[in-house]
Amino acid sequence: MSRLLITGGSSYLGQHLVPLAVAAGHMVEYTYHQNQPIMPGTGHQLDIRDETAVHSLIHAHQPEIILHLAGSNRGSDMAAVIRQGTSHVLWAAHELGIRLIHLSTDSIFAGDAAPYDETAVPTPVNAYGRAKADAEAIVQQHPNSVIVRTSLIYGLAQMDHGTRWMAEALANGEPVTLFSNQIRNPVWVNSLCAAILELADNSFTGILNVAGQQALSRADFALKLLDYWQIQPRHTLTVAPSDRRWPLNCELDLRLSTAVLHTPLPGVDSVLSQAK
Ligand SMILES: NC(=O)c1ccc[n+]([C@@H]2O[C@H](COP(=O)([O-])OP(=O)(O)OC[C@H]3O[C@@H](n4cnc5c(N)ncnc54)[C@H](OP(=O)(O)O)[C@@H]3O)[C@@H](O)[C@H]2O)c1
Repeated sequence: MSRLLITGGSSYLGQHLVPLAVAAGHMVEYTYHQNQPIMPGTGHQLDIRDETAVHSLIHAHQPEIILHLAGSNRGSDMAAVIRQGTSHVLWAAHELGIRLIHLSTDSIFAGDAAPYDETAVPTPVNAYGRAKADAEAIVQQHPNSVIVRTSLIYGLAQMDHGTRWMAEALANGEPVTLFSNQIRNPVWVNSLCAAILELADNSFTGILNVAGQQALSRADFALKLLDYWQIQPRHTLTVAPSDRRWPLNCELDLRLSTAVLHTPLPGVDSVLSQAK
C-alpha cells in the first residue's frame, strides 16, 4: 500500500477515487480548492497555481505517487489551472522522484482521424483541448509518469456534470441540443478509478487510453443517461449535428489498455444492464 497525493480530490472523479483508494488500503492525502468534500482521507486546501504552496505540500507529505486530477474544463481560470498547475506538480514530482499519474482527455483531438491510439499527436480545436495538450507535453518531461487519456466520465450513484446540466436546463424549460456527430467512449467512473489505482501500483509509463469499450454519439449517450436517471420532461430537447468548433469523432483505440490492464473497461450498455 502506498502514500498517495490526489490533486482535485473534490472533482467528480476525485470524489469517487479518494474513497476507493482509502478502501484499498492506501494512505491518501487529497487537495481541494473551493469545495471541501466530506470523505475519508486527509484533505488540504490548495490553489495549484501557487507554485510555493504546491511544493510545500508535496515536500511536507512526500507521497510515493501523485494522481493529478485537478484542472478540468470547468472554472474561470481553466487554462492557467491546467498549465501552471500541471507544471508545478510535475517539477515537484521530478525533483523528488515521485511517480505521477496525470488525467488527460480525448478533447485534445479535433476528431477527424479516429480511432486515436496512444501515438496520436494532439490536434486541439478549443482552449480546453489546447491547455490539456500542453499539460501532456509538460508531464512527458518526467520519466516516471503516466498520461491517462480518457473520455466522458459518468457514474450510477452520483450524476455526472453533463447529465446534471441537461437535467437542470430541461427542468427550466431551456433548449438542450444533443450532438449526433460527436463520438466518444464514455467511461464508468468506477472502472476508471480501478484502472488509475492499478496504474498507481504497476510500472507502466507513457500514454494510455483508458475509456469505455463502447463508442457512441454524445446524443445516444445522453439519452441513455436521461433514461437511467428518469429525467422528464424533454420537450425542449433536440438532436442535431454540431459544427467544427467542437471535437467530433474522438473514439479512442483501447488495444493497449486491454493488454496492459487487468481492470475491465465496460461500455455504457454493459454498465447500465448490470445496474438493472
Ligand atoms: N469529467 C469528464 O467527463 C472528463 C473527461 C475527460 C477527462 N477528464 C479529466 O479528469 C479530471 C477530473 O475531471 P472532473 O470533471 O472530475 O473535474 P471537476 O469535477 O470539474 O473538478 C475540477 C477540480 O479541479 C479543482 N480546481 C479548480 N481550480 C483549482 C485551483 N486553482 N487549484 C487547485 N484545484 C483546482 C477543483 O477544486 P474545487 O472544486 O475544490 O474548487 C476540482 O477538484 C480532469 O483532469 C479532467 O480534465 C474529465
